Amino acid sequence: MSGLIPQHFIDDLIARVDIIEVLGNRIQLKKAGKEFKSVCPFHDDSNPSLTISPAKGFYHCFSCGAHGTAVGFLMNYEHLSFVEAIESLASSLGVEIPYEKNQQPIKKNNNLFDLLEKIQAHYQLELKNEKKAIEYLKNRGITGKIAKRFNVGYAPSGWRNILDEFGKSSTEIDKLTTLGLVIPKDNNNHYDRFRERIMFPIRDSRGRFIGFGGRVLTQDQPKYLNSPETPLFHKGRELYGLYECQQALRKIERLVVVEGYMDVISLAQHGVDYAVASMGTATTDDHFNRLFRLTDYVYFCFDGDQAGLDAAWRALKNALPHIREGRQIKFVFLPENDDPDTFIKKNSAAIFEKELNNGKDLSEFLIEKLSKDIDVKSIDGKARLAEKAKPLISKIPAGIFKELIIDKLSESVSLSSKKLKSIINQHESNALKKNIIKNKKTFTNNTLKNNKEKPSIVKKAITLILNYPAIGREAELSLIEKNTKPGIEILKKLIQTIKKKPEINTAGLIELWRNDPEGKFLGQLAISELPVNDEFNTQAELNDCLLQLNKSYIKARITNLINKQHEGEFSIEEKKELKELIKTKK
Ligand code: UTP
Ligand code: MN
Repeated sequence: MSGLIPQHFIDDLIARVDIIEVLGNRIQLKKAGKEFKSVCPFHDDSNPSLTISPAKGFYHCFSCGAHGTAVGFLMNYEHLSFVEAIESLASSLGVEIPYEKNQQPIKKNNNLFDLLEKIQAHYQLELKNEKKAIEYLKNRGITGKIAKRFNVGYAPSGWRNILDEFGKSSTEIDKLTTLGLVIPKDNNNHYDRFRERIMFPIRDSRGRFIGFGGRVLTQDQPKYLNSPETPLFHKGRELYGLYECQQALRKIERLVVVEGYMDVISLAQHGVDYAVASMGTATTDDHFNRLFRLTDYVYFCFDGDQAGLDAAWRALKNALPHIREGRQIKFVFLPENDDPDTFIKKNSAAIFEKELNNGKDLSEFLIEKLSKDIDVKSIDGKARLAEKAKPLISKIPAGIFKELIIDKLSESVSLSSKKLKSIINQHESNALKKNIIKNKKTFTNNTLKNNKEKPSIVKKAITLILNYPAIGREAELSLIEKNTKPGIEILKKLIQTIKKKPEINTAGLIELWRNDPEGKFLGQLAISELPVNDEFNTQAELNDCLLQLNKSYIKARITNLINKQHEGEFSIEEKKELKELIKTKK
């Protein structure tokens, strides 16, 4: 793969791809009227609750709420990245992707990446000048070679080093502020965030520098200071050291997740090149997707203290939806007061790897933790254990592993697995019922029904267009041009897109918001039921919405202008505008 996939190609592909073929090649579909139905692969489903609409290019599960386009389906079902999903669809249609060479996907951030690259090089140079920092690293057993592999640097003392070197204009200072490298204070002044700290640059999966962790050399607090969330750096998405692993290894057999920067570096120092750090945060779905894209074997090795134990349990809970046949998740518990760094130093790489191999399987850790403090021999204990296990086991996708874990659990409480299963199923169907009720409520309340809460006309218009994109062709944009109601920008973008690409379907429209939080919300609107169901009525409904929006805009603007008039800040143009508006109202 090279370069970026052009947007027009993605748009055409989404318009051409037959969602029935994509899903039908992977799960069993049944025709039901204009639509298709299937057992939902995203939860433990017994009735076919997945509905696929070939016209909309969209699927939706009425039980668990999963929904999306063919692209989204591939991403979730086969754990592909967006680009991989597009590549898979293109190859199934037998079309070649016209990659754009030499083009960066996030253009507007390009110079931020460049700036960070320069600053990390600067910190690296500073390390060479600072004896006490070099001493510190040496004392911790880090050689120059490994420090270089991880681009370790140093931020010297002083409040304006970065500011003076890289913030020579106000635009540059703005960039430094955006990157979290300088912090604004009173009177338009700024100061360096990182001072007297060993600097660990954090790279994204493509190797670009996106942020830093900085460690004090002393016992001062906080021990580590990290870059804040910035347009480039999202802690919950990144894994420290992952890029360096990919560089060091030709094939990644397994990955071990540790807590700290120094754990990763110290393990690498001893030849264990497959460690990544969650940087002290919980392991998120994004993390799991990234890990399992590279390997089926993921180990967790946290610090041997209560915090490490708690982190391991949290990681287990977050791992449950990612369990699949063939994947192996293990938990390694180090002696108290050790972390991977101290452990490998005291022992050896071979002993550390032996610990990894002897780690607890996810199922073992799960059952052990659940049965802690419970007398599984008593009837009461069995019930409590089953109760505690229910919500966790429900998170595991249906499959052999789920069966196995239920079997194991039933063995350890000496309940028949049939009995245990029926307790768990009961929980799942209750949770689903709640989910369905919740979904129904939000769709009807917020969108179309006349409830106590006034329904939003914008939302109604969006719902109509998402369900019947063709009605957007005739929509009169000028009616909402000046309106600033929440959601109006989405409505405008939908109508503009349809006017440009009259054949676009629901899936194509929703894909426009793939990287925005609104995407999920639009997906929900796209499957909400409408009170009208033919195109003629929907067209009239949409026109009516736009007229209403225009009316409410005029009303609000008139009030606003009259207020201005009373306050005496009234220009000649505004006077004219008011006159015109009052005329149109009549
Ligand atoms: P640790 O304190 O276990 O880090 O915190 P460590 O790498 O073992 O530290 P040293 O250098 O060996 O003493 C684990 C991770 O939690 C985050 C950092 O990402 C750290 O690597 N953390 C910790 C912070 O962000 N701030 C802190 O003050 C402490
Ligand atoms: Mn440590």
